[in-house]
Amino acid sequence: MTAAGFWGRLAGIIVEGLPLISTRRSREIAEIISDLKTMQDDPRYKEAVADNIAFFKAARCPWLLLGWLALASSRLKRKRERLLEMGDFPFPKWQKRGYAGLASIENHRLGGMMSTGFVRELCRLIRKVKRIKGDDGPVVVLDLGCGGGELGRLVFKELPDVPLAYIGVDITPANIALAERAFRTLHKAGKLVFSKAPQADDAAVDAVRRGAEDGPGKAVAVCFGDIFELDKSLSPGKVDIICHSRVLHHISRPDRPRLEEVCRRLSPVTIEMDDVDCFRP
Ligand SMILES: C[S@@+](CC[C@H](N)C(=O)[O-])C[C@H]1O[C@@H](n2cnc3c(N)ncnc32)[C@H](O)[C@@H]1O
Repeated sequence: MTAAGFWGRLAGIIVEGLPLISTRRSREIAEIISDLKTMQDDPRYKEAVADNIAFFKAARCPWLLLGWLALASSRLKRKRERLLEMGDFPFPKWQKRGYAGLASIENHRLGGMMSTGFVRELCRLIRKVKRIKGDDGPVVVLDLGCGGGELGRLVFKELPDVPLAYIGVDITPANIALAERAFRTLHKAGKLVFSKAPQADDAAVDAVRRGAEDGPGKAVAVCFGDIFELDKSLSPGKVDIICHSRVLHHISRPDRPRLEEVCRRLSPVTIEMDDVDCFRP
């Protein structure tokens, strides 16, 4: 094939691919790009805005997206630590859409595979702590960066026989709303006691513990909050296990020891799903 023939064929493929993008989707992408542009002069977001705009421009066409993947992936891999996703920008609308999408993937029957190993390990740990405690009381689990609360729901499903008091904390209001909606449905079905706590403090932990003891053995509270502030409101030893999954990619390298310190101060056991260093050979 001649060079002209090759480019002609490629142009044909690109044009054929364009109708695959619906008008609604391209309108949404245009809206996202225009929202991102409002942040491009903010030094905290400048670099991430440029990367996200490049991605969304490519996402308008499958063929452009393939080209973007081929060209940008190794460059982005090198600066993985500084990357921000749409949920990290202060756009409530896109946070809500993005995390609702993540929740629907996680809730899908195949989506559980994303967490299976971690949930198994967390459940093993909960059973072990229950044995060590040796009483009838609930095991108190604190989920840092709980998102829509999917981890908690998977644990409840795996451990129907273990009394649990589960407290989830998250800094994204859209996620607290998601978690609240999902747990309220289970509350109405009588499967657990749900409450929304104003903050994760000793009183909130005591209330959830009582909810588990007096109710069906499972109680949940979710609260808005910054995990780095928790040791100001919670006393050491109030929770039995701290867990966090897929949160480390939101935390800068210098802040990670601070997170470890908070966990160490609050609980004898922490289990984390490291979604950053897990890619290193
Ligand atoms: C990718 S989501 C993971 C959600 C959930 N743990 C899971 O595995 O599905 C990361 C979550 O961490 C939360 N997060 C990030 N930094 C936080 C902070 N400093 N305090 C509380 N939550 C935080 C985000 O709001 C987001 O909901």
